[in-house]
Amino acid sequence: MNNGSRRRAPYDEKGKMKLDWGSLKRVLGYLKAYRARLVAVAVCILVNAIAGVVGTMFLRTIIDGYITPVLKDGMAPDFAGLTGTILFMASIYVFGVFATFLQNRMMVTASQGTLKKIRDDLFSHMQTLPIRYFDTHQYGDLMSRYTSDTDTLEQMIMSTLPEVCSSAIRITSAFCAMLITSVPLTFVSLFIVTLVMFLSRRIAGRSGRHFVGQQKALGELNGYVEETVSGQKVVKVFCHEEKATEEFRKKNDALCREATNANKFANILMPIMGNLGHLQYVILAIVGGAIAVSTGGAALTLGAVASFLQLSRSFTMPLNQISGQINSFIMALAGAGRIFEVMDAESEEDDGYVTLANVNIDEDGVITESDTKTGKWAWRHPHGTGEITYTPLCGKVEFFDVDFGYNEEKIVLHNISMYAKPGQKVAFVGATGAGKTTITNLINRFYDIADGKIRYDGININKIRKSDLRRSLGMVLQDVNLFTGTVMDNIRYGRLDATDDECVAAAKLAGADGFIRMLPEGYSTVISGDGSDLSQGQRQLLSIARAAVADPPVMILDEATSSIDTRTEMIVQRGMDALMKGRTVFVIAHRLSTVKNSDVIMVLDHGVIIERGDHESLIAQKGQYYRLYTGAVELE
Ligand SMILES: Nc1ncnc2c1ncn2[C@@H]1O[C@H](COP(=O)(O)OP(=O)(O)O)[C@@H](O)[C@H]1O
Ligand SMILES: [Mg+2]
Repeated sequence: MNNGSRRRAPYDEKGKMKLDWGSLKRVLGYLKAYRARLVAVAVCILVNAIAGVVGTMFLRTIIDGYITPVLKDGMAPDFAGLTGTILFMASIYVFGVFATFLQNRMMVTASQGTLKKIRDDLFSHMQTLPIRYFDTHQYGDLMSRYTSDTDTLEQMIMSTLPEVCSSAIRITSAFCAMLITSVPLTFVSLFIVTLVMFLSRRIAGRSGRHFVGQQKALGELNGYVEETVSGQKVVKVFCHEEKATEEFRKKNDALCREATNANKFANILMPIMGNLGHLQYVILAIVGGAIAVSTGGAALTLGAVASFLQLSRSFTMPLNQISGQINSFIMALAGAGRIFEVMDAESEEDDGYVTLANVNIDEDGVITESDTKTGKWAWRHPHGTGEITYTPLCGKVEFFDVDFGYNEEKIVLHNISMYAKPGQKVAFVGATGAGKTTITNLINRFYDIADGKIRYDGININKIRKSDLRRSLGMVLQDVNLFTGTVMDNIRYGRLDATDDECVAAAKLAGADGFIRMLPEGYSTVISGDGSDLSQGQRQLLSIARAAVADPPVMILDEATSSIDTRTEMIVQRGMDALMKGRTVFVIAHRLSTVKNSDVIMVLDHGVIIERGDHESLIAQKGQYYRLYTGAVELE
């Protein structure tokens, strides 16, 4: 559980930051929808930057045109002209402020709209990902793409991106204005700036390496906290608190060390830049003053020096900021890269063309498709010849020599052959890890088989559209997932068009009706936090009701009663028996008493069916099942 260290850090091997061009292009692609707005934003940025520079240049006019003549030549002060110029200068600044206001307003809409689109795309793509993806990606890791990565991206679009543009424009326009005002002073200024840049680059280069270390240490610390929080019960049970704290302290020390090193340099950098900035001010004032005095104002007027000093500030200030802005820009792009990584993950493929159709079946067994709800279903099978055949949905499942492994190195199931006729109950027993759950994962095509064939109602399941295949299969698992919403909503999750009455009927069938009516608001009680205020048995009853409302011909019950106490199990078992009636059922259970009445019991061992038959015949065989049943061997 270590999310942080797996993050795509925006650094290359040498600890230098690298820009993720691909992600930048895609972010810009999203922004394209707001093209007109962004052009307006660019104009606003330009107006604001230029207003700042032009305003500053008026300082020269004020000094040289209105103040120097009074002081030097003893002319009468022109108050009206001075006031006019000052007012004009002020209105230019006000204009700049107004442009900034417009820019920010438009940027908010553009960035929020873009983020909404990105979140929508991310979520809808996530829904198309295969189970395999979720096996190999951690929950926390996926979550962080919705939270921290989108946050940094938001920051980037809303402020960093315009800031970088604005800084670039301000630097350029100030530089031009400086050149116009005084070429020699511009060179002096450039020299100082280059020196400062050179120094800060050397320092930044060193801190880059430590930033990588900091990221890694932070990731480890976060992973550890996450593990400890989710496993708090285990920590307490095994009295591991002190050990955990000690471990945390170690990781925290490591983080502190790396962060100190990383930030030491970063924090040295800023004050140095700041102080050198002041130094530049002083040097420019001396050099400018000297030129102005020595040439008697011919080469450089007093007003020009004053306005140059101001301009040099407008030049170095964004220059100081831009490297930080570029850093956060690169960081945000790395976050965007992680979002796009999920979006680029391959969707679950579905080339099935056999679909489920609502049909009418007349007395002669002729099947005709129907537009209205008939409650009868058939597989609609278009053939290469253009002919369409219909096969009634019955729930017959057959395996022929199926081999399967989650990855190539390890084959989990070997040569599994079996069949379940409609309405039959097939049980799988065997030790943990024998491959029972895996078999059920293949029936609903969470995974595709390596070799062999699986048929549903005689049709190869690879030909059946996945959504229809899964609609014809119900599942009740050991872990129940409830969603935020009312009890009724949670039952209706099984089939969205079920009426309230149908949901209540399903709850009654499952035996859940009794406890639901005891809840404060009955069926309208809101479940939150995965139903943590319900007992395990109650949660299981809800999931049985959910499966019942879907009313599929085939049911898979995987250790559904394993985490329930024996007394509650009796109630849940009654619900399950009702649910199983008239369906093909695959049942996996720890307690052999629950599978005893199955039509056929398969004993699995290391992915191989070693025995099969009904309870009596297996007992008579005196094999593994017999030993399990009589307690000579334990299941675990
Ligand atoms: N998602 C998975 N990825 C890789 N291996 C898995 C996965 N799920 C199960 N396995 C492996 O497959 C084998 C069978 O597991 P499973 O079918 O869950 O056993 P059972 O349900 O009988 O306890 C085990 O060795 C397990 O480690
Ligand atoms: Mg299992």
